[in-house]
Amino acid sequence: MDPADFYTGIVAELYGPLKSVTQDPEPYAAFVEEAGSPALELGCGDGEPLLELRRRGLDVDGVDSSADMLDRLRRRAGAEDLHVVVFHQRMEALDLPRRYAAVYLAGPTFNLLPDDATALAALRAIRAHLAEGGTVLVPLHLPGPTPSHEVGRARTATGPDGAELRVRVVAENRDEHTRTQTTLLRYERYHPSGSSITERPWVLHWYTRDGFETLAAVAGLAVTGVTDPGGAPTDADADHVHVRLRTAD
Ligand SMILES: C[S@@+](CC[C@H](N)C(=O)[O-])C[C@H]1O[C@@H](n2cnc3c(N)ncnc32)[C@H](O)[C@@H]1O
Repeated sequence: MDPADFYTGIVAELYGPLKSVTQDPEPYAAFVEEAGSPALELGCGDGEPLLELRRRGLDVDGVDSSADMLDRLRRRAGAEDLHVVVFHQRMEALDLPRRYAAVYLAGPTFNLLPDDATALAALRAIRAHLAEGGTVLVPLHLPGPTPSHEVGRARTATGPDGAELRVRVVAENRDEHTRTQTTLLRYERYHPSGSSITERPWVLHWYTRDGFETLAAVAGLAVTGVTDPGGAPTDADADHVHVRLRTAD
């Protein structure tokens, strides 16, 4: 399966009920208020934090590669009469009508691009959609291996139709050389009308600081700052950083 299609079908269905962390909207709202509008959220999924930024009246469009996640976002927006503009596209092949003063991803979404070549294509596409003087915010994570006691342990939730939903890690392969980790996840859905079991590989790819800066430079972007997610200075080994970029001179 193509990594950009991972969040479809049963994975999209389980995403909301099983979500362990709700995305804090504050760093992204602050970024858009400072960098300006219009803004673009890449990998907006089912709407966090995009919907909260729209509630605050910020002019933010969204992009996601999963039609199923975007359906969920549109339903949530419709339920509260919120107008949102979202595009079903891959961030490495963006073709949008507007140019943006602020482009950002929320949480570890950039780490879902499976290799450096796809990341470079995404950075080039971002660069091409920046308005003059525009700013980019890319959160980068260094994912750890799944702790051995969590392998095989199911997380469960109940779907809107009463179905019992489960997901567990079946196996994991980590390659420090390519900076890629592939986790095989088993999704189970039990309902009187029919049950299903699906296994999907979840790919995470990460970067050294220098490696990311070099990719960005090749795409015509310059790193202007690296902070922790709260905006404070951070050390070089931090697991979670927010990288800001601008068009290179
Ligand atoms: C972990 S989810 C986060 C969604 C949302 N920001 C949240 O916190 O609820 C990552 C999203 O990125 C999307 N995605 C993955 N690869 C993508 C790509 N190449 N282009 C655009 N979106 C992508 C997935 O479909 C998914 O909806």
